[in-house]
Amino acid sequence: MGSPFSQVDLGLLKKYDRPGPRYTSYPTAPLFHGAFTAEEYHKEILATNTAGSASDISLYFHFPFCDTLCYFCGCTMLVTRDRHRIEEYLGYLKREIGFIAPHIAKGRKVVQLHWGGGTPTHLLPDQIRDIATFIGSSFAMDPDAEVSVEIDPRELRREHLEALRESGFNRMSMGVQDLDPKVQEAVNRLQPEAMTTEVYTWARDLGFTGINIDLIYGLPFQTLRGFEQTIRKVIEYGPDRIAVFNYAHVPWLKPH
Ligand SMILES: C[S@@+](CC[C@H](N)C(=O)[O-])C[C@H]1O[C@@H](n2cnc3c(N)ncnc32)[C@H](O)[C@@H]1O
Ligand code: SF4
Repeated sequence: MGSPFSQVDLGLLKKYDRPGPRYTSYPTAPLFHGAFTAEEYHKEILATNTAGSASDISLYFHFPFCDTLCYFCGCTMLVTRDRHRIEEYLGYLKREIGFIAPHIAKGRKVVQLHWGGGTPTHLLPDQIRDIATFIGSSFAMDPDAEVSVEIDPRELRREHLEALRESGFNRMSMGVQDLDPKVQEAVNRLQPEAMTTEVYTWARDLGFTGINIDLIYGLPFQTLRGFEQTIRKVIEYGPDRIAVFNYAHVPWLKPH
């Protein structure tokens, strides 16, 4: 096999070789600000009901909890094992769904739904089923919707993936970052390769049709050679997409 990099269009790479926000939320994080009021939000939602071509909707749900802290993490998350706190959050999430859903015109279908984090699979399998059922009864899901979730292989049991499949999830995004144990140790994210392989195999067995793997470059102890090995191995899994993030170093936001 030739170098995976030989297939990259260098012109395209140069064109987009500039810092930009990660696309994991839309609008992207720097566009959020406190001056956008609840009234404006409400008005915007109502406006989309009459926008003609915008009849389909995409929904994003944030689950900000994690089991341990990865030192590079720039996400909006909180490390907790306090199950009461998580339950409390799920209660608030249901309330918010209850505020929003009645304003969406009947007949509008959800064609994309995504659970991000944090780590949505830090929920227990029954919590996954419960909140997914609540969402499904609050909005009209298109039977062909893309329903996706971010998972962290380190704290995942097969039951989590079963609960997700039963709840209609068909796509997933797996955090890997780098397969080199030295890099993993430096960023406090020990994730043996065998674990990543096992979770990937479960996901395919259970019928997830779209699997993404996240990598990050710019982490401590990474070298071109080592990272190339990670990329080669990840390509061998055969994921449908690989997201390669430039490490965002934002100590003023994330002191860790
Ligand atoms: C919300 S997190 C991931 C899901 C899950 N909690 C996990 O870690 O496997 C989504 C992705 O954002 C990326 N990410 C997190 N912090 C980052 C940073 N500071 N710079 C670049 N990418 C980052 C990682 O690749 C991570 O997998
Ligand atoms: S990278 Fe994922 S698991 Fe690690 S702290 Fe961030 S959200 Fe949590």
